[in-house]
Amino acid sequence: MIILTVCSTKGGVGKTTLTANLGGFLADAGQRVLLVDADIQPTLSSYYPLAQQAPAGLHQLITTGNSQGAISQTSIPGLDIVVSDDPDGLIYRMDTTVDAADVANTLRRAAFGESRGGIAILDTVLPSTVVYTEAATAQQPVHRIERLRRGPSQSALEAMTQLVGELLPHIDVDLINESGQVAEQGRAR
Ligand SMILES: Nc1ncnc2c1ncn2[C@@H]1O[C@H](COP(=O)(O)OP(=O)(O)O)[C@@H](O)[C@H]1O
Ligand SMILES: [Mg+2]
Repeated sequence: MIILTVCSTKGGVGKTTLTANLGGFLADAGQRVLLVDADIQPTLSSYYPLAQQAPAGLHQLITTGNSQGAISQTSIPGLDIVVSDDPDGLIYRMDTTVDAADVANTLRRAAFGESRGGIAILDTVLPSTVVYTEAATAQQPVHRIERLRRGPSQSALEAMTQLVGELLPHIDVDLINESGQVAEQGRAR
């Protein structure tokens, strides 16, 4: 199992969008993916429609460590999610007691050491902003919406393919072909 964490102290920088699209892309490439929405503003939880909603979510997972009944299925095959729910405000209270500087320093020490505080993930031009909005509205991963972009900026499909290639080099991203159609073998499990 590989765990990817998408986090930033700043809002509105694309954490939810990136997480949803990484999940959708990897599921379409044949991986089993579990999204965990650990944001108390639970945008990721409603990004994709749910095919089957579990009775519980993040609150149960955090308070009991039990995932039974806490994993919902999205409408995308292979893509499951622990939705963010916080009926008693418990997660919110925990969140405000955590020292953000401690968290940031721990992450830096663990992962940023060799690069002296910064990691360049992708040296790429951001693709059209339009496609992300369209994909979110259609509740689809961006690579299913943008087939093949022609124009000065990079295709969203190309950017996602590069990102996955860099993060998870062992994943066969060729399962999604150049026209953006998801190859049949990618879906078959
Ligand atoms: N790569 C991108 N290119 C263009 N627009 C983006 C991109 N990623 C996110 N957005 C847009 O930016 C806004 C904030 O993104 P969001 O993922 O909600 O940020 P966060 O979760 O960090 O608060 C959304 O309107 C989203 O559609
Ligand atoms: Mg968000």
